[in-house]
Amino acid sequence: TEAGLIDRYGRVATDLRVSLTDRCNLRCTYCMPPEGLPWLPGPDLLTTDEIGRLVRVAVERLGVREVRFTGGEPLLRQGLVGIVEAAAALQPRPRLSLTTNAIGLERLAGPLAAAGLDRVNVSLDTLDADRFSQLAHRRRLHDTLAGIAAAEAAGLKPIKINTVLMRGINEDEAVPLLAFALQRGYELRFIEQMPLDAGHTWRRENMVTADEILARLRQAYELLPDPAERGGAPAETWLVAGHVTPDGAPARVGVIASVSQPFCRACDRTRLTADGAVRNCLFSREETSLRDVLRAGGSDDDLAGLWREAMWGKLPGHGINDPSFLQPARPMSAIGG
Ligand code: GTP
Ligand code: 5AD
Ligand code: SF4
Repeated sequence: TEAGLIDRYGRVATDLRVSLTDRCNLRCTYCMPPEGLPWLPGPDLLTTDEIGRLVRVAVERLGVREVRFTGGEPLLRQGLVGIVEAAAALQPRPRLSLTTNAIGLERLAGPLAAAGLDRVNVSLDTLDADRFSQLAHRRRLHDTLAGIAAAEAAGLKPIKINTVLMRGINEDEAVPLLAFALQRGYELRFIEQMPLDAGHTWRRENMVTADEILARLRQAYELLPDPAERGGAPAETWLVAGHVTPDGAPARVGVIASVSQPFCRACDRTRLTADGAVRNCLFSREETSLRDVLRAGGSDDDLAGLWREAMWGKLPGHGINDPSFLQPARPMSAIGG
């Protein structure tokens, strides 16, 4: 059997995150300026077939077992349903998920589920329509909520909700958002804001930390340690005492403490950008283009070898807490979270 994606610290990447576009129909302040960004030129983007080929190499030759599609906003990608379908046809069949703002899911949830998508994570930072418009510079709360409902109706379960809390902006919604998620059986995760915004405006003081988030939640809910194995998951989860999901499973809430409690030692992720570069870390400062080799006629063997090499060089951690930390050149929207 062939070697998987191992690095010099012994980690094995089995979770592939594929960015399908760097574009988005929202402009969340912690991610993108209101005017947008210079988008990747069309010819630079991987085609549907090229994505299919690289995902196949990852699954058939490199041991990838889970494929997550991200963006920008992946629902904006032409051919998304076909991309999912091709991934679902691979052997062994990878688990398939999507991280999205849910705008457009009202129409696409059914076709995506039919194509083989297993589940979705939806970004939602507020339940207030006016605040949503301020935070995302687009008046689309209704579309996001409708998209979440459509995902549920299509059986895309479990639905996870991602919330970035911002100091003095939506901190007061931690408890209401959890109440919303508990009522509907969604798994809510609060995410510490990371230095990945296009404007490089991240300030540590403005980041709402995991400890602060938990203290807030504990004013309204009792949180118990979760006995489930965490594995390589970014989210540390708690059981919410006295609450169950509609299926009768214990209700959970999570915190993704990338900055205050890094989880890089257990990282199992490899990334592919929309223009075909492997990133061995969300924060890596170097990339390896597979697209160029692919377009020059490279074989599956060439692609797999290059991908392995790229992962071997993965650093032990993201370095956000080091004085010498430098943000990666690409913003979050062009990496895919
Ligand atoms: P599941 O729990 O398996 O659904 O996935 P996930 O939480 O990894 O995925 P999602 O796309 O919902 O990402 C949630 C948050 O975790 C986002 O803010 C991501 O940027 C962050 N995240 C995902 N992978 C990594 C990682 O390798 N390192 C860091 N620091 N953050 C990550
Ligand atoms: N820090 C933390 N999370 C972020 N996201 C986007 N930008 C940032 C950031 N700078 C979140 C989105 C989405 C997920 C993929 O990452 O809200 O839910
Ligand atoms: Fe778009 Fe996601 Fe960035 Fe918001 S966080 S602007 S949804 S890419």
